[in-house]
Amino acid sequence: MTDIPVLTIDGPSGSGKGTIAQLIAREFGWHYLDSGAIYRVLAQAAMKHQLDLADEDALSRLAEQLDVRFAFDNADLKVMLEGEDVSLRIRSEEAGNAASKVAAIPAVRSALLQRQRDFRKMPGLVTDGRDMGTVVFPDAPFKVFLTASAEERAQRRYKQLKQKGIESNLSDLIAEISERDRRDSEREVAPLRPAEGALILDSTELGIDAVFEHVCAFCADL
Ligand code: DC
Repeated sequence: MTDIPVLTIDGPSGSGKGTIAQLIAREFGWHYLDSGAIYRVLAQAAMKHQLDLADEDALSRLAEQLDVRFAFDNADLKVMLEGEDVSLRIRSEEAGNAASKVAAIPAVRSALLQRQRDFRKMPGLVTDGRDMGTVVFPDAPFKVFLTASAEERAQRRYKQLKQKGIESNLSDLIAEISERDRRDSEREVAPLRPAEGALILDSTELGIDAVFEHVCAFCADL
């Protein structure tokens, strides 16, 4: 238990939780933890060291020793694996799916627990993921669960890819997002679900500004 405040924002992939968490961290002047990036980097490290994504012992040993660092380059979050900038590489659909697989291994999750808790520093922490409010920071005073329909999340991803000049197929994206939701929600350890007392926000019909206002008002009310 500590007095350092934490705002947890959990939700499925593509719900906008990372964008909102970073905006709020900037607004409050708090630290920011992108917990999904840790799982993405772990999957990247496993591929780099040619480990089998189903080898639970090797993956949990790797999780214990993982050399991951975060840095801000102006407003952009830079993610470093063993000194190498992997910020772009870890954002692909493939990297997200691999992360979801390694994240389902209980020993991997416990190896990463304290590392995530160490981000709780004054004046406060904003963090996003799947189990931030339920497992990692259960005593957080502010908890949000941000969601949106799978179709809407796939549409957003489709537009993002298009902006980067990458053609994709909307129905494939919907299928991939639904499969990742299923894996993240049905796993035995720390499944994706709203924490008790969390503000549940559905952003299907809401823009970023509206979600930002709701979350700020929620934190001010407590
Ligand atoms: O939030 P994201 O899409 O970057 O996360 C990638 C994967 O990592 C996600 O599919 C499940 C896993 N993850 C998790 O299990 N627990 C977290 N706190 C964050 C992410």
